Amino acid sequence: MSRVYNFSAGPSMLPEEVLKKAQEEMVEYPGAGMSVMEMSHRSKVYDDIIKETERLVRELMNVPDNYKVMFVQGGGSTQFAMVPMNLGTKCKAADYLITGQWAKKAAQEAEKYVKVNRIASSADKTFSYIPKPEASEFSPADEVDYCYICYNNTIYGTRYTELPKTDAVLVADISSNAMSEVIDVSKFGILFAGAQKNLGPAGVVLVIAREDLIGEPQEGTPTMLTYKTHADNDSLYNTPPTYAIYIFKLVLEWI
Ligand SMILES: Cc1ncc(COP(=O)(O)O)c(C=O)c1O
Repeated sequence: MSRVYNFSAGPSMLPEEVLKKAQEEMVEYPGAGMSVMEMSHRSKVYDDIIKETERLVRELMNVPDNYKVMFVQGGGSTQFAMVPMNLGTKCKAADYLITGQWAKKAAQEAEKYVKVNRIASSADKTFSYIPKPEASEFSPADEVDYCYICYNNTIYGTRYTELPKTDAVLVADISSNAMSEVIDVSKFGILFAGAQKNLGPAGVVLVIAREDLIGEPQEGTPTMLTYKTHADNDSLYNTPPTYAIYIFKLVLEWI
């Protein structure tokens, strides 16, 4: 076997130790008599797996106690809608910094649910830099529900080295830098990451949300797109992506 170095921006390399451990446990998870793929998400064995995954996320990212850790589906892209549907309830407006395709797509999606203020954009120079607006250029905190950034711009290789000077609740897409650098969770209202670049296989999305932001969403928001559904049910409202979460746990153990 000869494994290549895969620098793809899509699903990327997993540690070989993780793949080998998964291979060992694929057919029979120790003590369970079946594969993780086959077991009930309500079983004691699986409950231990998902709880340990959450514990490791909390430990490795130093997640404060007033934040919920959730495992949801739909890829990073579903968060582009979930964020405005769940947070855009008071002012029904949000600030967006357009630093690449993923921030652009997030803003376009958000526009279906809230008024989007594009505070700054680096589209003029093919997203080759991070714009740094002055504090006065952001909306006052009582006029927007949140300010949105894409922390690491996967396609262009640009990243924030200092956070925007906004007083609003900060929301960040960390799909391509989660657990690859220290992130001070307490500076954010919501952090989310599709797993497939840094954390595990595609199919699971990590969402870390400050508890006071997990309230009633906009009217008509589907149950599955409501953060409260997943927060109140410890990510077990419906069948979660059980195997993807198990591999995520192995990656966390490796980290
Ligand atoms: C920063 C960032 N956000 C969101 C996405 C979209 O994620 P998904 O394909 O899981 O919807 C990507 C995908 O590459 C990404 O790099």
